[in-house]
Amino acid sequence: MRVLGSLILAVLVLSVVAQEDEKDCPVCMTNQFAKCMGSNCICFLQVSADESHTVNCTTLTRKCWMMKNEMYRLKNNIGTRRKPTEHAMLDNDGIYDPDCQADGSFHPKQCNGTSTCWCVNSAGVRRTDKGDDSKQCPELVKTFWLQIQLRHQSVEQEMDENKLKEAITKTFAAYQVDPAYIEKIEYLKEDRYIMVDLKQNATGVKSPSDLATAAYYLEKDVKGSSLFSSAYNRSILDDGILFDGVKLGFEQAYVYYIDEKNPEFSMKRLTPGIIAVIVVVCLAIVAGLIVLFITRRKAAKSHIYQKAEGRELDEMQKQQLTT
Ligand SMILES: *[C@@H]1O[C@H](CO)[C@@H](O)[C@H](O)[C@H]1NC(C)=O
Ligand SMILES: *[C@@H]1O[C@H](CO)[C@@H](O)[C@H](O)[C@H]1NC(C)=O
Ligand SMILES: *[C@@H]1O[C@H](CO)[C@@H](O)[C@H](O)[C@H]1NC(C)=O
Repeated sequence: MRVLGSLILAVLVLSVVAQEDEKDCPVCMTNQFAKCMGSNCICFLQVSADESHTVNCTTLTRKCWMMKNEMYRLKNNIGTRRKPTEHAMLDNDGIYDPDCQADGSFHPKQCNGTSTCWCVNSAGVRRTDKGDDSKQCPELVKTFWLQIQLRHQSVEQEMDENKLKEAITKTFAAYQVDPAYIEKIEYLKEDRYIMVDLKQNATGVKSPSDLATAAYYLEKDVKGSSLFSSAYNRSILDDGILFDGVKLGFEQAYVYYIDEKNPEFSMKRLTPGIIAVIVVVCLAIVAGLIVLFITRRKAAKSHIYQKAEGRELDEMQKQQLTT
């Protein structure tokens, strides 16, 4: 009995010590899923049962590792998924369990743990048809241009375009995007769309960052499932950005990825010379309609070809072929 008692006591003491050990380490500001421990408070991100990576909590953790960690958590039911904002109903971002390279970049060939494989760009977005195991992806094609479309909630006041652009630049800085990456910001007042063009190979960048990762963090914030620690001063999450004395909320974020080489989808209407744009994110209550709307408008405007990722792909292909 006494042995059992001291055993229980020992376990209790140990667990208290263990808890204190964790408590002593500050949370990882830029990655709420990283665990910090040890006397040096090194922070780790678990990406599979037997693989974890140290992360730097002052910089964003690369997209490939974040996706892999999300799949790991999903498969193992780790962490309660915080109820997202009321409009976060759809998840069309085509999450898969990626293969990451040692530096956290995407492996050019992805199979999602199955024997169906495809090639991705440096942002981890599919850029070829799906094939079997033998699919060849000789190189990781660079995504050099990201176009981010944010749709803000309707507001009563008149929007000052210059102030809005300033606020957006500031918002991107919170995602560690050097202003030099921002090529232009356009505002379509009547549609409430803000279009931000980011060029990965922009000149004059002082602190280089991976734009695909920044866009991924932003996308998650708009969807109400932030990757930042709750202690971090999040910039977009839930209630939006500070603008002209009010909070300006966002209801959608679309990210378009433009690669250095055309994607290789076997599509009848894809003629050489057309820049392919791959649409990945939709946080939309009526996603289908809006994607269609944008597709039509864009196609008419500039012959930019668009492609949606994930479940929407087939739908989009149909639309492309019939319009
Ligand atoms: C984290 O990144 C910052 C900025 O790149 C760098 O100055 C710092 O040394 C890094 N910290 C660690 C622990 O690697
Ligand atoms: C990857 O596999 C998971 C199941 O393990 C599935 O839910 C998901 O849709 C797959 N993603 C893609 C892009 O095939
Ligand atoms: C960036 O890359 C694109 C595509 O490779 C190229 O057309 C463009 O000239 C480059 N811009 C700069 C500033 O290097």
